[in-house]
Amino acid sequence: MRERQTLTFRLNGEPVSVQAAPGARALDVLREACGLTAVKEGCGTGECGACAVLVDGTAKLSCLMLAAQLEGRVLTTAEGLGSPQAPHPLQTAFADCGAVQCGYCTPGMTIAAADLLARDPAPDRAAVRQGLSGNLCRCTGYVKIVDAVMAAAAVIREEKS
Ligand code: FES
Ligand code: FES
Repeated sequence: MRERQTLTFRLNGEPVSVQAAPGARALDVLREACGLTAVKEGCGTGECGACAVLVDGTAKLSCLMLAAQLEGRVLTTAEGLGSPQAPHPLQTAFADCGAVQCGYCTPGMTIAAADLLARDPAPDRAAVRQGLSGNLCRCTGYVKIVDAVMAAAAVIREEKS
């Protein structure tokens, strides 16, 4: 059996070094070795978006990534977007707009939305729906999720003006 490999990358602003088995998924390393349980496993097959994380600023599905692909990268999970004390505008807006029910999809939704707003700070509702089209929610029906992303976009634009 091949030895575990050491991976070093930046995770939510901090340098980390973790041991991973050859063939380990990034999803499992982030949840188990790094303890970041906001990274959810829904389908495990690239269909639901629950496992999304920002890799060098772009949303990626960690269930489809090998842990080895994290080497040297800059990772952000929902834990790194904001904290309970200083939530990201997306996290605040999801709560304020009632866009969270069971919450299972929410970390991935906020990661996908953060990616979208970095590329398009003033999306219309159709662009938000398109940006979140890879993220499934079984609870909310999406209207409140789109409301939340629109509200957060306005807050972020205001903060930057
Ligand atoms: S768990 Fe990765 S896309 Fe569903
Ligand atoms: S809030 Fe339950 S899956 Fe989206």
